Amino acid sequence: MVATRHFLQIKDLARDELDYVFERTRIIKARFKAYQRHWPLQDRTLVMIFEKASTRTRLSFEAGMHQLGGSAIYLNTRDSQLGRGEPVEDAAEVISRMSDIVMIRTYEQAIIERFASHSRVPVINGLTNEYHPCQILADIFTFIEHRGAIQGRTVAWVGDSNNVCNTWLQAAEIFGFRVHVSTPPGYEVEPERAGLHGREHFSEFADPMDAVRGADLVTTDVWTSMGFEAENEERLRDFADWQVDAEMMRAAKADALFMHCLPAHRGEEVAAEVIDGPHSVVWDEAENRLHTQKALMEFLLLGRVND
Ligand code: CP
Ligand code: NVA
Repeated sequence: MVATRHFLQIKDLARDELDYVFERTRIIKARFKAYQRHWPLQDRTLVMIFEKASTRTRLSFEAGMHQLGGSAIYLNTRDSQLGRGEPVEDAAEVISRMSDIVMIRTYEQAIIERFASHSRVPVINGLTNEYHPCQILADIFTFIEHRGAIQGRTVAWVGDSNNVCNTWLQAAEIFGFRVHVSTPPGYEVEPERAGLHGREHFSEFADPMDAVRGADLVTTDVWTSMGFEAENEERLRDFADWQVDAEMMRAAKADALFMHCLPAHRGEEVAAEVIDGPHSVVWDEAENRLHTQKALMEFLLLGRVND
């Protein structure tokens, strides 16, 4: 019997556990590519709760659970009692008696924490306003596949200091790399909200060109995250100079990678020639959501396995 472990922030797993998940990802990905059956979660059920839209997260969790031999159930706020005021704690009690693992995409981190504290089964954060740990799991795996260890490297984040940025910053403390962040004034990182221990692993730059100089990886995300749509007009104006363009990629290392969690808006946070250009690994990054999350679910449910 494995003790119930949750994945609400990337730091919920220790460095050696994350390294183990990457090791398993390599095996699980190779088996998938070779059409080899890998069914460690036969008869297990994943419940996915979405309070916000999704393409990649839903698809990767649902397909991933089927490929592991289990099944997945999709719930959303609109069609369930969750949208009609049933307390999160009650929902957690009931859902976790009928399933083996739960993934939630919601608004405040506090909601998923309340759910987890009343859940009998592991809970995975599929994105909150504060964090997107599954994304960074896939991103770091993708970096390692292309360039080797991320320790000691420099990641440049250009744009909004949102859930994805916060998770990069947390990961920097765990894996020992640096994040150079450039946001417009008024959109700076809030270290406490990001859940950081200190400022040792990140530096802020007023000019995005200074942030990307010499970087091993340049990454960005939408200017307006889900839940912040009312600020869209204002953000379009405020972020206009924070588009990752070819000039920025030239300032990074010659072999720098470009990542974006997607969905992307070409002509806003990234120029088409960058996301569709030679530095970009966004499709590998998206695909690796599937493989890393399969390894994550296997780890949360079975612990370390030897097969
Ligand atoms: N990157 C990501 O989480 O995509 P979706 O919003 O499509 O799930
Ligand atoms: N920061 C974005 C990520 C989408 C996958 C959002 O929260 O909408």
